[in-house]
Amino acid sequence: MKKRREFLKKCGLGTLPFLTPALGFNTLTDENHLATNDKKPLVNFIFDGLGLSPSDYIDRLQKIDVESTIRPDFYGNGGATKELEYAFAKLTGKEKAIYLPTGTMANQLAIKLLNGSNTKVIVPENSHIYRDEADAAQSVHSKRLIGVGKGKHFFDLEALKSAIDYTTTGEVFKSGLGTIAIENPVRRADGRMVPINIIKEISAYCKKENYKLHLDGARIHIAAAYSGVPVSEYASYFDTVYISLYKYLNAGGGAMLCGYAAIIDQISHYIKVYGGTTFQSWGNTAMAMHYLEGIDTRWQTVVSVFNEFVQKLNKLEGIEVSSLENGTNIHNLKLDKTVDLKKMATNLYTEHNIWLGRANNEGIVKLTANESILTRDLADIVGALETSLQKAKG
Ligand SMILES: Cc1ncc(COP(=O)(O)O)c(C=O)c1O
Repeated sequence: MKKRREFLKKCGLGTLPFLTPALGFNTLTDENHLATNDKKPLVNFIFDGLGLSPSDYIDRLQKIDVESTIRPDFYGNGGATKELEYAFAKLTGKEKAIYLPTGTMANQLAIKLLNGSNTKVIVPENSHIYRDEADAAQSVHSKRLIGVGKGKHFFDLEALKSAIDYTTTGEVFKSGLGTIAIENPVRRADGRMVPINIIKEISAYCKKENYKLHLDGARIHIAAAYSGVPVSEYASYFDTVYISLYKYLNAGGGAMLCGYAAIIDQISHYIKVYGGTTFQSWGNTAMAMHYLEGIDTRWQTVVSVFNEFVQKLNKLEGIEVSSLENGTNIHNLKLDKTVDLKKMATNLYTEHNIWLGRANNEGIVKLTANESILTRDLADIVGALETSLQKAKG
């Protein structure tokens, strides 16, 4: 049990709800799950996406298929997967896009191919590429990752230049630096964004010095919703861009890598080499396509409805919610000492089908905005929180 909790924490899932039936980490039986989930659509404050249960997922795909027949792909060729690749190329303004089974593979293959025979790649010290990809760059792709900006949410141009200077002047046996990566928003910094002026400066510098620039934009639509910078503009500053299909596009998994044809055309061979070629991926790509359509408008609504929600919560006695500097959809929720969080979360789940996360060591619960808040009347959600809060007061 302790091991599992450690694993979830390290995966950034330490804020999972007390009861997580839809994920297979369940402490409830299927019967409990059905009994509660039949009531109202799930509102979750945990994930970037809807947190669909298997039955919701099947139901959604069924509806998508009824609206417009899902066309299967064959090893990534044709069908829903090709359609999604076209959509992503258009969205990012890049020549091509390709489906990969995971974002980890998208990041790794992007930096490998952008870097060519150079060995060094500069990455944010707190990035997924540096800290959460099992040293794949070093152990599989023979690339040396240099982490920059330790203890910070992102690095700026000055920090980048000094890291480059440090390695180029301080090492006798030189091997090249070819690629820089940026993650935005930053998962390990609760979704804080890299300011657009920093991205612009780094991009201009990389162009001038002939370094390639990769964006780990797993959640780039969420950054766009909060910064007002369109995804196409973000993408324009980078050579390659990876976007997740499951964080907020609600697919079961998968990733898109977008860039110029000379790079993207090489990817499918490497997906095979590393064992990632799947027979069919339409189940992920048709779902992601469904949620890609109209995403910007829906997320603008999420932002404004959630702001209203936060204002309403802050009027309640015993609860305080604040947003983060440069933040996106993740907020800090603090409860008064008299409130039993576990009691409140359990009541929210069992009575109202609302998921609340666990508290971290500082007693802060991360309250995440996503499209699930649009599935129910806001007054109903606020009312549920108010009632559960009262019931959890000691
Ligand atoms: C910022 C970021 N990049 C990359 C990934 C990797 O995605 P995948 O789980 O598809 O490998 C994640 C997943 O958590 C992520 O948060």
